[in-house]
Amino acid sequence: MKEFSVSVASEDELVAYGEVLGKALNGGLVVYLRGDLGAGKTTFSRGVLHAFGHQGPVKSPTYTLVEPYEFSECTVYHFDLYRIADPEELEFMGIREYFDENSVCLLEWPDKGEGVIPKPDVELTIEKRRQTRYLRLSGESEKGQAIVALVAASNANITATR
Ligand SMILES: Nc1ncnc2c1ncn2[C@@H]1O[C@H](COP(=O)(O)OP(=O)(O)OP(=O)(O)O)[C@@H](O)[C@H]1O
Ligand SMILES: [Mg+2]
Repeated sequence: MKEFSVSVASEDELVAYGEVLGKALNGGLVVYLRGDLGAGKTTFSRGVLHAFGHQGPVKSPTYTLVEPYEFSECTVYHFDLYRIADPEELEFMGIREYFDENSVCLLEWPDKGEGVIPKPDVELTIEKRRQTRYLRLSGESEKGQAIVALVAASNANITATR
C-alpha cells in the first residue's frame, strides 16, 4: 500500500499511531517526519519509541541533533535537523554512519539534510488543524509499502477505541 491517511483527534491518539508504526519497524529503516513546528513529530516519535519498550520521556533533539535509544534488537536514532544550516554539517558529524541494518532512523526536518541523508522507506506528514492532526503515511520503498499496509490494517483497532 502506497498511502494511508487518517485524522487524529488527540495527542494520545497520535501516540497510539506512533506505537502502531513502531511495531512494524525493524533495523535498516528510515522514516521521515514532516510537518510544521508543533505539528506533533516528536509526540509521534514518543509512540514509536514506546513500541520498542522505551518508558521514559522523549526529549526533542533540537539542540543535540540526535538522541539514541538502544534496544536489544536495534538502536533507534531520533534526529531533529531543524537547526542545520547546510547539509555539509551533517557530513562533518559523520551522519552516514548512523544508517545501517541495525538502526532505525527517525528524522524530523529531513529537508535540511537533503543530498546527505538516505532516502526514506516511510514518510509521515502531519498537518495541524487546531487540536486535530491529519496524518499521511507514504511508503517510499517496497519495505515501506508493506509497513504502511500494516499500519492501515491496525487502524480499525485504534478507531474502535475512540
Ligand atoms: N492532536 C494532537 N496531537 C499531537 N499533539 C497535539 C495535539 N493537540 C495538541 N497537541 C500539542 O502539540 C504539540 C506538538 O509538539 P511536538 O513537539 O510533538 O511537535 P513537533 O512537530 O515535534 O515540533 P518541532 O518541529 O518544533 O520539533 C504538543 O505541545 C502537544 O501537546
Ligand atoms: Mg519535534
